[in-house]
Amino acid sequence: MREALEKIAASAKEQLAKVADIKELEELRIKFLGKKGELTAILKQMGGLSAEERPVIGQLANKVRADIEQEISERADSLKSELSAKKMAEETIDVTLPGKKRSVGKLHPLSIVLNEVEDIFTGMGFDIVDGPEVETDHYCFEALNMPKSHPARDTQDTFYINDNVVLRTQTSSVQIRTMENRKPPIRIISPGRVYRCDTVDATHSPLFHQIEGLVVDKGITMGDLIGTLEQLMKRLYGDDCKIRLRPHHFPYTEPSAEVDVMCYNCNGAGCPLCKNEGYIELLGAGMVHPKVLEECGIDPEVYSGFAFGVGLERIVMRRFGITDMRLLYENDLRFLEQF
Ligand code: DAH
Repeated sequence: MREALEKIAASAKEQLAKVADIKELEELRIKFLGKKGELTAILKQMGGLSAEERPVIGQLANKVRADIEQEISERADSLKSELSAKKMAEETIDVTLPGKKRSVGKLHPLSIVLNEVEDIFTGMGFDIVDGPEVETDHYCFEALNMPKSHPARDTQDTFYINDNVVLRTQTSSVQIRTMENRKPPIRIISPGRVYRCDTVDATHSPLFHQIEGLVVDKGITMGDLIGTLEQLMKRLYGDDCKIRLRPHHFPYTEPSAEVDVMCYNCNGAGCPLCKNEGYIELLGAGMVHPKVLEECGIDPEVYSGFAFGVGLERIVMRRFGITDMRLLYENDLRFLEQF
């Protein structure tokens, strides 16, 4: 029996030394010390020993059990610390590594300037209204005094969905929609996308943006139009910015004008950028045609109004000195990050 005990002690020692994790350690504990374990099996045979042998073997058996228990607990401790050391090593953070850069988005130059324009107009008491981009021929042309045969349609060739539905060529359609739904006084601007069958170049795109303006009230004059536009330009381009009106023709305004803004490059002196004009054409405007008012149910004998339509791209390009419109649509971050 002594030999058997010594064998158990030796084999336990050997196997415990090889244990790789807590689960294996527990299996060994059961194998050696459990109720059906090897040591218990030996102790069960103690009854067959002589009276002299029994205390000696008993003592030895107790020592073997105590030794194995001690070893198991030491192994458990070292396994635990190995485990936590491993975990620590795995979770170490290398503070010298370069950090992950969070890229913060920016507003597109078109949005930056549109926000400014909206601020300027809401400050003057204007509402901002929206209109559909897919529009009927009626709102886009007919109601603006441009019947089917009208030559003014030529410059606004567009994308036809069918004979009566188009991608709008101008935000002027929103004038009609607004006057049909509101009673004067009306003061609105309506920014949005417009579409024309134009070939892409430095100053043309089949999709661009306009901002329409409309004011209808009693006693509105050309002076109100000029004052409003002057205010817009000074706020956008600085107090010494001047505008100039040239007579023009739009079917839905009478009188009509094209509005030029002083060239930012030469301040009016004349240079290649403004083709020696000193001014750059920026928008169309005029006094709302009495016929247009009347067809929207507004009495032209009582009310008058002004309207204008300005290309957002043009104001943005003048504002930032951009010479090629295509840059605004190419989504090149090297360009966009400059604003
Ligand atoms: N709709 C015109 C265009 O696209 C611009 C315009 C001219 C708008 C005169 C107006 C206006 O409201 O009164 O070229």
